[in-house]
Amino acid sequence: MTNAFRFQTVPTLVVEFGAARRLGALLRAQFPTLHTVCVVTDGFLHKSGLLKPALADLAAHGWNATVIDDVIADPPEHIVLEATARARSAGAEIVLGLGGGSSMDVAKLIAVLAPQQEQPLSDMYGVNKVTVSRLPLVQMPTTAGTGSEVTAVSIVTIGEAKKMGVVAPQLIADLAILDAELTLGLPVAATAATGIDAMVHAIEAYTSAHLKNPISDMLAIKALDLLSRNLLPACEDGSNRGAREAMLLGATFAGQAFANSPVAAVHALAYPIGGIYHVPHGLSNALVLPHVLRFNAESAATLYAELADVVVPGVTGSAESKTNALIGKLEQMIAATAIPARLRDVGIEREGLPRMASDAMLQTRLLVNNPRPVAEEDALAIYTAAF
Ligand SMILES: NC(=O)c1ccc[n+]([C@@H]2O[C@H](COP(=O)([O-])OP(=O)(O)OC[C@H]3O[C@@H](n4cnc5c(N)ncnc54)[C@H](O)[C@@H]3O)[C@@H](O)[C@H]2O)c1
Ligand SMILES: [Fe+2]
Repeated sequence: MTNAFRFQTVPTLVVEFGAARRLGALLRAQFPTLHTVCVVTDGFLHKSGLLKPALADLAAHGWNATVIDDVIADPPEHIVLEATARARSAGAEIVLGLGGGSSMDVAKLIAVLAPQQEQPLSDMYGVNKVTVSRLPLVQMPTTAGTGSEVTAVSIVTIGEAKKMGVVAPQLIADLAILDAELTLGLPVAATAATGIDAMVHAIEAYTSAHLKNPISDMLAIKALDLLSRNLLPACEDGSNRGAREAMLLGATFAGQAFANSPVAAVHALAYPIGGIYHVPHGLSNALVLPHVLRFNAESAATLYAELADVVVPGVTGSAESKTNALIGKLEQMIAATAIPARLRDVGIEREGLPRMASDAMLQTRLLVNNPRPVAEEDALAIYTAAF
């Protein structure tokens, strides 16, 4: 018997090395009657020249492109609102997110906010709260990564430290373009952190408590296979085209999986680390991952054992020993990338752990998906183990 389920994803996915070089033509084919596109990115990517070929081809195909490059990592609310005002005054007809998760998340919100003034952003936080339609939306990731190009989620930082999600089907793009050439220059630490984020999406989607389904399972398994085999090769040689293509595809598959079978305690415990200490999202996940899996093991060992078959080929033994092998392999991979391994290594002090545990409890949207209930004292114990 199969439980009833719903699966949503982008209607069109273009996977093409070098696609950014013919972005103008791709958009012309998809949106023949439109002329003005707003490219949402961050200042570093704009200055780095990474966008140049894409912007040149937009101009060559008659697009009037406005670049909004003030996105910053873990985008705060005011950045979203200012960018929306700029898109509106530029007369944007299409919004194109071109960057990491931060740029794509801001692009999503511009697309729903720019064409209307009835529903403010403050009314959109939560699940299925967006009541308005949006501008045409295209996403092109430059990290592999958040999977934001295929998800219905946008994460905003509220006030000093709280990360909140807008989750609504309107945020699913019309078109996602995967051009691994854009990821060739991603530095090793960012390759590792964003790649581990993608692996966590696959792992948490596969063990999600309520909405796990046969399609999300299939995508999570394939994602984890691609990501676990290619993370270290991509870190060792960033110009390894095959590894970069596999990572980008794996991150998108993981995004499609968790968009329908949501992430859980690893993300809930990662958000306070990013929110309070401004640790990059992928690194925040990596710091708590092994410890959350160990906590979950008593409830999720059967599913973890299935993931161990993918990540540790040839593994044998009981579900418990396969689970240990999975956790051990993930720890080894994290260590091999040389990103920081402990909370104390990223400027967190032991006295900060109780506030993190109490903030993590606010992520009820995520915690309900965890295979084992997490109380505040459990969160504190996990942070203490990760310290
Ligand atoms: N919407 C979702 O479904 C979802 C899922 C997970 C995370 N997120 C959010 O996404 C954000 C994190 O996104 P991210 O990890 O992609 O990082 P990011 O977008 O914040 O970018 C991190 C840094 O990497 C740089 N960078 C990006 N691509 C590069 C490239 N090709 N070459 C060189 N430098 C490059 C950027 O300039 C930036 O300095 C967080 O806000 C997180 O909460 C969203
Ligand atoms: Fe994530």
